[in-house]
Amino acid sequence: MGIGITAVGGYVPERVMPNAEFEALLETNDEWIVARTGIRERRIAAPEETASSMGVQAVRDLLKRSPKALEGVDLIVCATSTADATFPSTAALIGLQVGLPSSAAFDISAACAGFGHALGVAYGLLLSGVHQKALVMGSETMSRTLDWTDRSTAILFGDGAGAVVLERVPDPYGILGVTLGGDSSGGHSLYLMNDADVLPGLEHPGPKLTQNGREVFKFAVRIVPSATLEVLGKAGLGIENLDFLIPHQANVRILESACERLNFPMSKVALTLDKYGNTSAASIPLALKDSLEHLKDGDVVVLVGFGGGLAWSAVALRWKML
Ligand code: ACO
Repeated sequence: MGIGITAVGGYVPERVMPNAEFEALLETNDEWIVARTGIRERRIAAPEETASSMGVQAVRDLLKRSPKALEGVDLIVCATSTADATFPSTAALIGLQVGLPSSAAFDISAACAGFGHALGVAYGLLLSGVHQKALVMGSETMSRTLDWTDRSTAILFGDGAGAVVLERVPDPYGILGVTLGGDSSGGHSLYLMNDADVLPGLEHPGPKLTQNGREVFKFAVRIVPSATLEVLGKAGLGIENLDFLIPHQANVRILESACERLNFPMSKVALTLDKYGNTSAASIPLALKDSLEHLKDGDVVVLVGFGGGLAWSAVALRWKML
């Protein structure tokens, strides 16, 4: 038996914010944003929405397609940088509302690489037999972390949530390999401090996302190909065996450069950033949900994430239709 994804769900808030809305707020325009990022619009959470409430909606969406998917879940892992509270965890708050109040539940903080980390940790716990079935999530209210006067960050992010169920599946399907990596010396390139945080040597702009866009760009273009090849290598596979790439959705130019390095066609890459922007830890499960119609039984799929930390994650799977 392997361990694989057997159910997928996603949620984005109702409110659509097109690029044109930034023209009244900042010195920018739709043409620049589309040309430099590929983003056309993003979703913005309503004031009453939180990472946990959006996570609950993602689980409800998953249950529409797979009504029995939560039966036997004994572990909930939620990747988020925008938890409702330091504790209880967002995972626990979601579990309580979806009828899983007795599951082990905790959050993971690895920014935009968070979903792969959550998947990797849950995979390890299932593989070792410590847990039997996991609900793995990414949920983010990134819009609340933005400096809306900073045109180089405000235009990039959006809100949303995604959820998958991970459990035993017949061979040869399921997870083929996991790669989690970090370069903590690059933490100054991308950070989000809380009110009370002190990070030596770093300016504290309040609880706002701060980044060196060019540094992050260069890091991402290097790490997407290397993490993808590493995780395929762990499965004894190469780029010629890859059927579909589901990357973190940050900037289409990052993905074009990475695919050029990999010699992999963009036609086999999931792209949702035009409509959702960068939803951080939610972007990979949301992109997976939107890719379901393109995936066939036996396809080799890689989910690859990168972000603050600096951190990266890659998970290779042999797909089985849900
Ligand atoms: N509209 C118009 N002009 C802009 C905008 C904007 N929205 N943003 C920046 N510019 C300007 C800059 O001020 C600069 O002007 P200058 O030459 O007069 O100084 C010019 O455009 C070029 O700036 P660059 O930073 O070189 O622009 P670049 O092409 O690199 O695009 C961007 C900037 C979009 C931020 C890009 O660097 C990027 O996407 N980087 C990766 C960021 C990222 O993905 N972060 C999230 C990672 S995941 C996570 O963990 C959260």
